[in-house]
Amino acid sequence: MCGIFGYLGPRQATSILLDGLRRLEYRGYDSTGIVIKNGSFEIHKKVGKVGELESVLPNRIEGTAGIAHTRWATHGVVSDENAHPHPSAKGKVVIVHNGIIENSRQLRTSLTVQGVDLQSDTDSEALAHIIERELSVDNDPEQAVRRTLRLARGTWGLCAMFLEHDVIVCARNGSPLIIGKGEGEMFVSSDPHALTPYTQRVVFLEDGEIATLTNDKMSLSTLKGKNFNPDITVLEENWGDSDLGEFPHFMLKEIYEQPDALRHCISGRLDRVRGNGRLGGLKLEPRDLAKVPHVRLLGCGTAYNAAEIGQLMIEKLARIPAVAHISSEFRHNDPVINPNALHFAVTQSGETADTLSAVKEIHLKGGSVYGVVNVVGSSIARECGKGVYIHSGPEQAVASTKAFSNMVAALSMFALQVGRSRATSKEQGREIINGLQEIPHLIEEYLEQQGPIHEAVDMVKNAKSVLFLGRGISAPVAKEGALKLMEIAYIPCLAYPAGEMKHGPIALLEEGSPVIFIAPNDHVKVKTISAMHECKARGAKIILIHEEGDDIASEADISISIPRVHPLLSPLLTVIPTQLIAYHTALALGCDVDRPRNLAKSVTVE
Ligand code: M6R
Repeated sequence: MCGIFGYLGPRQATSILLDGLRRLEYRGYDSTGIVIKNGSFEIHKKVGKVGELESVLPNRIEGTAGIAHTRWATHGVVSDENAHPHPSAKGKVVIVHNGIIENSRQLRTSLTVQGVDLQSDTDSEALAHIIERELSVDNDPEQAVRRTLRLARGTWGLCAMFLEHDVIVCARNGSPLIIGKGEGEMFVSSDPHALTPYTQRVVFLEDGEIATLTNDKMSLSTLKGKNFNPDITVLEENWGDSDLGEFPHFMLKEIYEQPDALRHCISGRLDRVRGNGRLGGLKLEPRDLAKVPHVRLLGCGTAYNAAEIGQLMIEKLARIPAVAHISSEFRHNDPVINPNALHFAVTQSGETADTLSAVKEIHLKGGSVYGVVNVVGSSIARECGKGVYIHSGPEQAVASTKAFSNMVAALSMFALQVGRSRATSKEQGREIINGLQEIPHLIEEYLEQQGPIHEAVDMVKNAKSVLFLGRGISAPVAKEGALKLMEIAYIPCLAYPAGEMKHGPIALLEEGSPVIFIAPNDHVKVKTISAMHECKARGAKIILIHEEGDDIASEADISISIPRVHPLLSPLLTVIPTQLIAYHTALALGCDVDRPRNLAKSVTVE
């Protein structure tokens, strides 16, 4: 989604800003822009990728201060005019903005009445004009931003530059902004990992905060005007390998990284002797866990699918109610929060606005939330203050793969931990630990022998729609497979619990309709196979993902076998063929695998 990268210092800014933009690219965007200050503001904006912006830039732009932006359209079509930065009417201020200004209609109307000629259809542009108007009051850039934001409603990660002042003023409310402190230079970015090539010393702005940056100083204050000292965090340099290496796409690379990512996730977190999980970041003792009345898990997209698997694992092992919620629905349904219950926010980016709002809603109502988060220091990780980092390393493809696996693994360790404080025996616990420790190797084994993925691709690539079915713990895997194929190959996909198929989706089946079944060797396999027969009887073509050595392979048109696995952990294996089918189908259809249209890697608007 929208990204910001800014620089202020002694070096030429353009190449630093373009490099910053490239590091933000994975988040998904539709246009880019850059402003460099050199006596005046030199602004260039372009629809398309960073490369397209570069192609319209003059050979050399002098200037040691600037801001760059990647835009993901919310208000106004994708066009050069709507791309950021936006200058003010008299050209004294220029801004970039992430988030949504909810009262932009009123602000724009009042500006028009005052005679301002708005140049774009965005909600953001109004801020530039109001800051300029407020600047004329006392010529104080920080106060001008402060007064402007008091008039605005909504969310912002905002950076403003001023023609007559050598500062960048930054403000955050609901949209991340991180200040990077170098030696005699300052950086600002919406993504901490874009800063690490330049500095590890960062300050995460919190909601309602403002930072005024000069080359060597940052002044922090609240929107109300209270000053405070910076709390500098030192980022880990070793976040992981974020280059493609020998892979053609990040998605394929990340699929193959799953075994090692899982090893990182479980390492040091399993207590073999006690048959228990050891998630220290939860800061929960067995006596606390024994009193938990219920568990609620929140997430969007892939994270929600992982949360559904977590729900089933927790109920199975701990025998307490657990329920997964779609974050974007949560706070709007005025949920009842029990302060003794456990809540988990599951998220790769840690910046998903819907999940962040759900966390805040729970906090507001006196509950506590644990993060199950990949990106260290992200907004949700900090808002929760406790939880589990899933340690997937950087996930760059918009389609989430290795983060899904590590979310499931982290939740399985929690399920084990809460289970051991209640209903799960030491022996059952050890079985799960053994199962988890084998998974990375089993995935490697499967990746060596993937089965007829390309036949499956041929079957689905021109289909009108694809139905994914699974039962029990495989129902969320079916959803995850459908989400992946839909988001990167643009094929309409439907996922249902297999038993529900006969209550509606069966009407879609025609001669040759592809149906993908997920049927590992668990207690519901027989029932899943009945659904498979019902589909076959109506002419559907079956792609079956099943465990090797079972007796059902011959019943499918295409059967893809995975190694034998502990039934509760089967999603960690059954999901892999669905990821590969999605990847190869998107490739066969000529789609942009890593950056599918309209999507963003981290969705920072509600
Ligand atoms: O960063 P998050 O895990 O919170 O993101 C949630 C969803 O936006 C994300 O999983 C999305 O559905 C992916 N594109 C799925 O591949």
